[in-house]
Amino acid sequence: MTEKYRDFLGWTIYQIYPRSFQDSNGDGIGDLRGVISRLDYLKDLGINAVWLCPCYKSPNEDNGYDIADYRDIMDEFGTMADMKALISELHRRDMKLILDLVPNHTSTQHRWFRESRKSRDNPYSDYYYWFDCPPNDWKSCFGGSAWQFDPARQQYYLHSYAVGQADLNWENPTVVREMQEVVDFWVDLGADGFRIDVIDQISKDFPGDRNCFGPRLHEYIRDLFDRDSTRKLFTVGECWAGDIAEVRRHCAPERGELSTLFQFDHLNVGREDKFTHRPGPMAELWDILRNWEEKMQENDLLYSLFTDNHDNCWLLERVGDTGPLRYASATAIAAMVYLMRGVCFLYQGQEIGMVNPHYDSIDDFNDVESKNQYTELLEEYSREEALEKINFGSRDNNRRPMCWDGSAQGGFTTGKPWIPLHSAHATLNLQADQASKQSVWRFYRDLLHLRKTHPALTTGSFRAISQPGDSYCAYERREGAERLLLVCNFEKAGTIDLPGASGAVLLSNYGHAEKTDTHYEPYEMALFAL
Ligand code: NOJ
Ligand code: CA
Repeated sequence: MTEKYRDFLGWTIYQIYPRSFQDSNGDGIGDLRGVISRLDYLKDLGINAVWLCPCYKSPNEDNGYDIADYRDIMDEFGTMADMKALISELHRRDMKLILDLVPNHTSTQHRWFRESRKSRDNPYSDYYYWFDCPPNDWKSCFGGSAWQFDPARQQYYLHSYAVGQADLNWENPTVVREMQEVVDFWVDLGADGFRIDVIDQISKDFPGDRNCFGPRLHEYIRDLFDRDSTRKLFTVGECWAGDIAEVRRHCAPERGELSTLFQFDHLNVGREDKFTHRPGPMAELWDILRNWEEKMQENDLLYSLFTDNHDNCWLLERVGDTGPLRYASATAIAAMVYLMRGVCFLYQGQEIGMVNPHYDSIDDFNDVESKNQYTELLEEYSREEALEKINFGSRDNNRRPMCWDGSAQGGFTTGKPWIPLHSAHATLNLQADQASKQSVWRFYRDLLHLRKTHPALTTGSFRAISQPGDSYCAYERREGAERLLLVCNFEKAGTIDLPGASGAVLLSNYGHAEKTDTHYEPYEMALFAL
């Protein structure tokens, strides 16, 4: 792999949802000082970098993805001084900071929008998309029309997300410059990279029918990241690229665009749609991941390995077992995914094998998407059915406060948490996990340690050994003389007989230091040196 991206193969990035990670002052809202207090925990887990979901000034209609000032910190999260302290505390530990960049839209409270709505001919009037009538029937991703009438300007503006999130008009060169300056501002402060929110939407296909992947998308991405100040950054785009050609256009090093992007295909395993469960077999997950992994390797691109984030219910809820085999399935999935070749992302709570909580009232939810969805669901379903769907698919599932211990507020706050804690926090928490013989956290820590100490697991090549249709997955990682073999059984106990899969194991989720028989329990995995 090109030198430019090779280093990233050794990175594990931990995604923090700041509102729910650690509260430091008892107001029930996670904050930057709270994050600082947990950096040693992250370092010990084997984390190299932290990706912070947006922590800029925001009215929080979409929890920070509606930004009112790109250059200042949300009051509840702290101050600019806290941010500077976080950056230096990270760097002191040789860890990196990845910030969330949201270039597609601002809050309607942003100064740009407040100016823009005042008239049709002021310096900000073309910062957003304004029309006398909706020029198409685009829908908001959070339900309803994407066009909102603004009584002040007597025109409609575009909001691909919440009504309070107005899409920026990138056709306006001043907008491009503004966003370059935002990037430079944070790079000067010490940011090491960015996760870029819905990057595929910054160029629209007007008057076509797609508000993403417009004709100038790549030009805009290069405007942002193909500059002296930005070329060395780590950049990961949130982007719905459907095929490898599209991924190449974003990530091939010579293009000067992104280091990598998230591919989301595997997140659809185990659900009919976002709010409808359909149990998904591990084989399905493996097929998708293997397929992308092979294509990314053939094309010499950097693959992003992840299972969870703040936008999707826990993967374990859809693939794997949330009952007695929770530990076994959580660790099997972890091994299958994170022993592959790529840059690793963990989402807070994943390291303890988190599953969905459950609530009896919509009042226990906060997310704008969930609330809108609930209202829409009630047109078709009973209250109970609608609530079941929200309980399954709500983004709040992954946004509940981190469960650090079994105390009343889960070790998250001394006050009242901004959203009810996870309904199972008394038993499902880090402290309990660490005290258990079956600790998902310990497994992750061991796995990440292995990645750091075996070049085969980072820069090494990937070769699938199992065949489509097998009831297990097996693959080899190889760097020079070092060859490692992962064998990972799926749901049912069975026999797996592969050359080399015998002897000492480097990692096992069934407590084996060595394995000589060919019988595998459900979700049993073993890593062998060949
Ligand atoms: C994707 C983010 O991950 C999500 O949380 C947010 O609601 C939308 N983009 C809009 O910014
Ligand atoms: Ca706080």
